[in-house]
Amino acid sequence: MSRMNRADRTDRPDRMKRKDPLMKRQFPQLSELRPLLQFSRPSLDRRSARLAGAADINDLRTIARRRTPRPAFDYVDGAAGQELTARRTREAFASTEMLPRILHGTAAADLSVRIAGITSALPFGIAPTGFTRFMHAEGEDGGAAAAAAAGIPFSLSTMGTRSLEQVAEVSDAVGNEERGAPGSRWFQLYLWKDRERSLDLIQRAQAAGFGTLMVTVDTPVAGQRLRDVRNGMTIPPKLSLKTVVDASYRPEWWFNFLTTDPLTFASLSNTATDLPSLINGMFDPTLSIRDLEWIRGAWPGRLFVKGVLTAEDARRSLDAGADGLIVSNHGGRQLDRAPVSLKALTEVRAEAGPDVEIILDSGITSGADIVAALALGADFTLIGRAYLYGLMAGGRAGVARAIELLAEETRVAMMLMGAASVADLQGSGQVRAPWLTAEPAGSGAPDPSSASRPARRN
Ligand SMILES: Cc1cc2nc3c(=O)[nH]c(=O)nc-3n(C[C@H](O)[C@H](O)[C@H](O)COP(=O)(O)O)c2cc1C
Repeated sequence: MSRMNRADRTDRPDRMKRKDPLMKRQFPQLSELRPLLQFSRPSLDRRSARLAGAADINDLRTIARRRTPRPAFDYVDGAAGQELTARRTREAFASTEMLPRILHGTAAADLSVRIAGITSALPFGIAPTGFTRFMHAEGEDGGAAAAAAAGIPFSLSTMGTRSLEQVAEVSDAVGNEERGAPGSRWFQLYLWKDRERSLDLIQRAQAAGFGTLMVTVDTPVAGQRLRDVRNGMTIPPKLSLKTVVDASYRPEWWFNFLTTDPLTFASLSNTATDLPSLINGMFDPTLSIRDLEWIRGAWPGRLFVKGVLTAEDARRSLDAGADGLIVSNHGGRQLDRAPVSLKALTEVRAEAGPDVEIILDSGITSGADIVAALALGADFTLIGRAYLYGLMAGGRAGVARAIELLAEETRVAMMLMGAASVADLQGSGQVRAPWLTAEPAGSGAPDPSSASRPARRN
C-alpha cells in the first residue's frame, strides 16, 4: 500500500507534463466568452417568469398547489370516493402506444377542428367547471379570455361564478381584439327542480350568444368527494385559525379573495354552505329522458349530452334529439368505479356511427392524451383540471400557458406521427390501446377491432 503511494507521488509530475493528444488547451479568450454570457436582468414580472418555467401541466399543478389554499386546490385535484375512476382514467391514457409514420413529408400540422358549428383553432376546449373564482379571483373571466385569445371554445357551468352576460362580454372583447372575431362559448346546464328558471337560463344563454348547450346528466346527486369532507370545505371559505395561517403562505390568493367582489354562484340563488347540500337541494334526481326531450324543444341551438359512457345511453340520448355526445366520467368526480371515458369511447362511437359528433373529456393532461382520444374515435376534447391548474398558477396568463403547452405537445406528437391534420389521425389506427387488442382466436371473446376503429371521417 505504502509502496503504491510512493509510486503515485513520483508519477504525478510526469503525468501533469504529458500532453493530451486529443485535447489542445488554450487560455480562455474573453471575445469567445462574451456571446456565451446570457445573464438577463431579473424580471419584475414574477408571474410570467414562473409560468414560463413550467414545462408541462404537471409543473403548473405544482405551482398551483403552492399558491392556492388547500381546500380550493383539493376541490379541483380530488375526485369521488377512493378516486379509483380518476386514477384508472389517467392510467388508460398512459397505457396507449403511438405508432410513428416516417418519411411522410409532413411540413406542418394543422390542429384546427370543425366542431358544433364552429372552427376551433385547437382540438380541445375548456370544460365547464363550477365555483371557478374560488380557484383564482379571475375565475371564468380568466378562462374565457384565454380561450378567446387562443381561438378555442369556453364552456360556462350552471354553477359558474360569473354570469352568462359577463362571460359573453369578455369572450367577445378579447376575441375581437386578438383574433378579429368574437370568442366561441358553450353553456352547460344542470336541470333544476324549478323548470321555469331552467328555461330562463336557456333563453339568456341563447341571447348572450352561447351556441351550444351541454346538458350534464351524470349528477342526479353530488359525488362523494372525501377530500372536501376532510378539509371541511364551505362556501364561502370559513375564516378559522387554520385559514389565517394558510393566508400567510398564500398572500396573493387571499389578497385577491378579499379585495374583489364576493364569491357567489352567478346563475343560482342559494343558502347552502357546502357543495353536496347545494347540488342535492337544487338538482333533480328524477331527471328522465322526457326532460331531455323537453330541453330539446326549448333549445334551438346545438345540444350535446354530457356524461354518456355506454352504447345504450348514447342511443337514448340521440333518439331524444341530442346532436352530439360528450363521453365523460366527470373527471372521476361522480360515480367512483364508473368506466374510463377513453375506453367507453369505442362502444359509444360504434353505436353513434361516424357522423355524430363526439367530444371526450376526463383525464387529459397532455397533448399526447388529446392525440390518443382523437385517434380512438373522438372529434374533439375538453380539459377540466388541466386548465384549472393553469388558472390557480397564474389567472388568465396561467390558462394561456396551459393551452400553449397542450397545443405544442399535440403539434409535436402529430408531427412525429406524420399526421398533417386531425382528420389524418382519426381512423389511422396509429394509436394502440391494450383493451382493444384482439384476444387470440378461439378464446370466445368478441373481436373488437371492427367496432373500435372509428371510420375515417372527412
Ligand atoms: C373543479 C371542477 C368543477 C366542475 N364543475 C362542473 C360543472 O359545474 N358542470 C359539469 O358539467 N362538469 C363539471 N366538472 C367536470 C368537467 O366539466 C369535466 O368533465 C372534467 O373536469 C374532465 O376531467 P379532467 O378534469 O380530468 O379534465 C367539474 C370539474 C372540476 C375539476
